[in-house]
Amino acid sequence: MGGNSTYHFKNPVVRWFDSRLPMVSMVRAQLVDFPTPKNLNYWWTFGGIAAIMLVVQIISGVVLAMHYTPHVDHAFQSVEHIMRDVNYGWLIRYIHQNGASFFFIAVYIHMFRGLYYGSYKAPREILWMLGVIIMLLMMATAFMGYVLPWGQMSFWGATVITNLFSAIPFVGPAVVEWLWGGFSVDNPTLNRFFSLHYLLPFVIFAVVALHVWALHVPGNNNPTGVDVKSGKDTLPFHPYYTVKDLFAIVVFLALMMAFVTYAPNALGHPDNYIPADPLVTPAHIVPEWYFLPFYAILRAVPDKLGGVLLMFASIFVLFLLPWLDTSKVRSATFRPLYKIFFWVLFVVCLGLGYLGAAPAEGWYVIASQILTAYYFAHFLIILPLLGLIETPRPLPASISESVLGKGGGAAPAAAAAAPEKRG
Ligand code: HEM
Repeated sequence: MGGNSTYHFKNPVVRWFDSRLPMVSMVRAQLVDFPTPKNLNYWWTFGGIAAIMLVVQIISGVVLAMHYTPHVDHAFQSVEHIMRDVNYGWLIRYIHQNGASFFFIAVYIHMFRGLYYGSYKAPREILWMLGVIIMLLMMATAFMGYVLPWGQMSFWGATVITNLFSAIPFVGPAVVEWLWGGFSVDNPTLNRFFSLHYLLPFVIFAVVALHVWALHVPGNNNPTGVDVKSGKDTLPFHPYYTVKDLFAIVVFLALMMAFVTYAPNALGHPDNYIPADPLVTPAHIVPEWYFLPFYAILRAVPDKLGGVLLMFASIFVLFLLPWLDTSKVRSATFRPLYKIFFWVLFVVCLGLGYLGAAPAEGWYVIASQILTAYYFAHFLIILPLLGLIETPRPLPASISESVLGKGGGAAPAAAAAAPEKRG
């Protein structure tokens, strides 16, 4: 990105500035002229939507922090003060709270898009792995943010999750005390979680910059998974994709605002409106919905250390994905067997989400174990084998051919020239 300016800007001030700091020409090259495959569908808008959600979370979060008090005696009250006394405080808080959920919705769709179209395959492995790092950072940020209102779920969620580290052999209990800054989840814990919850979104921002940089080296994948072969296969990013992304962003934000204004607590847990009480354990301690599949994997193993390791492994396996999938063909459109297994994996993840919210007893545990085993089998057994046994459908010669048919648009033109031949 960047380099010396090769543009000749008409405006002398811009020309003066750009020849000293080629920022304007960089934005032009990367966001205006950037050659983008002409067949991208709406699943490709979710990267931009995720980026906007990150900005929404940072802006609403900075305003909330102006009125929030990170102390165990004041945190709950300060959130109530935001809701009742601060001008539009309720709106800013509900945007931030539901924004977290919608950020995860956007990123999960973005990831499944990548899985379906094989966007993690060469040469986009680093791009994919940076994505997995972003996801881990998002999870840490959301977890610590949920502790801040200091309700019952905040406190007990923090207690359950931090205690997981006690399963590490030998040093576990010492690690947990170090995380807490004391002998239980208490004021020092709340303070450091607030500090880190403020810091991490900016770290995410930096990793997103690397992510987009890594994207702009090979350019976008596309629904056919076939590489760009000529200028005929691409369009400039602006106005074609700026307008398409903008439309998708408006629809997505409208959906989020429907939740914010009509059902602001639908995605949350009512127990978090009870102030934290270390002496009263809630009947069911459940994390936010976006953690539920991982929570189900954690609880599928009766052994604490085993559960923790498996939960981390379920994310770590995504780092290896580019090398586990042995197929030469990227897009599921041309992989008849993979397409089926993709949808099975999707349903398995939904199933794990359902089981993460169910009590850890009886058949729920057995079902969690089966689905967890399937999740790992998908990546470690099915994907490596599938590339060897599957016969892909014939690929189009180019992106243009897949959009316009053989001859790059000649067929419809010929039909127009000979209307008498139409039935
Ligand atoms: C804050 C979160 C994220 C932001 C803001 C973000 C942003 C973007 C943007 C703007 C694009 C280009 C547009 C598009 O393809 O949709 C992109 C592409 C991509 N992202 Fe992300 N991303 C995020 C998280 C992730 C995660 C968690 C993963 C996977 C684990 C991921 C994997 C990819 C891949 C593989 C591509 C290339 C897509 C293709 O060309 O087919 N991203 N990302």
